[in-house]
Amino acid sequence: MTTNELEIVQSTSKKDKPSQDQVPFGTIFTDHMFTMEYEAGKGWFEPKIVPYAPLTLDPAAMIFHYGQTVFEGLKAYRTEEGRVLLFRPEKNFERLNLSSERLSIPPIDENVVLEYLTKLIELEKDWVPSTAGTSLYIRPFIISTEANLAVAPSKTYKFMIIMSPVGSYFTGGLKPVTIHVEDQFTRAVKGGTGMAKTAGNYSSGYQAQANAKKLGNADVLWLDGVEKKYIEEVGSMNIFFKINGEVVTPALNGSILKGITRMSIIELLGTWGIEVNEKKISIDEIYQAFQDGLIEEVFGTGTAAVISPVGELNWQGKKMIINNHEIGELSQKLYDTITGIQTGKVEDTMGWTVEVK
Ligand code: COI
Repeated sequence: MTTNELEIVQSTSKKDKPSQDQVPFGTIFTDHMFTMEYEAGKGWFEPKIVPYAPLTLDPAAMIFHYGQTVFEGLKAYRTEEGRVLLFRPEKNFERLNLSSERLSIPPIDENVVLEYLTKLIELEKDWVPSTAGTSLYIRPFIISTEANLAVAPSKTYKFMIIMSPVGSYFTGGLKPVTIHVEDQFTRAVKGGTGMAKTAGNYSSGYQAQANAKKLGNADVLWLDGVEKKYIEEVGSMNIFFKINGEVVTPALNGSILKGITRMSIIELLGTWGIEVNEKKISIDEIYQAFQDGLIEEVFGTGTAAVISPVGELNWQGKKMIINNHEIGELSQKLYDTITGIQTGKVEDTMGWTVEVK
């Protein structure tokens, strides 16, 4: 990576911020953005913080045709005293490079990029909202920009970071969601791109999501692409089950996203003396446990979704109502602890938060 000096061009006008009690998810963007270019043979260059603005790209830019792109999602939180904290940001840049490797995109220097992000947040500190459940969502991403219709990796890229003040991902806040267990469409297969955070993994789920939403579900739970038998993840989060006192989650198998909240929940539960069993979990086994009255709680984990309790799973016309559609004790405790650490209310004994001064 070529280490160039960061150039900062300040915006001359300031946008209106959303009202603190009505922060939407992902539709309002801050005043500035970060951009950096890549050229084969030259590396990454021209790091800049500039006013947030549309891009100009060649219509033949490879991103539009073959979707060679990766992204990340992390958040900055406001503490009661007004400090700004990031949650394990180094993990996001580490995962960005893993995703890039899968998509044949050149790696970024994780530490240098974290410094650029810190500068961007310093400039946009006033955009970090302070009401409960809100944060500044940070979206780093890389797009392939070479104008070339050949099916081959681009020789040029753009790395960007945009930021958006956000409220809860699912409407209704921390309220148990209804999820459709998808048994027709496939999200990912082993050897595919399931473990990478890349656009196609998400857009290929829209059709299933739309069908599920028509039936009153908030999202879909994906099963493995081969047998449609083993549980993978929900559209926007990893999934955990508490069954007869044991916490289980699908083991990472190459087609499941290596969630940073997932990892943090496993580590946190470990400190509470609760071992998470990461294993292959079949939907039949979940249905059997449901029929036997053994499913105590189901919850999703993700940066955007935080901890989202699942109140109902619908699979092949069978309805599994979980914990009477109520938030489970463990889900609530995990939500309170993780958001407490993120917002400085709970002591960060894990060393997960990084303050932006
Ligand atoms: C996140 O949790 O940050 C995600 O990227 C999930 C989704 C909004 C795509």
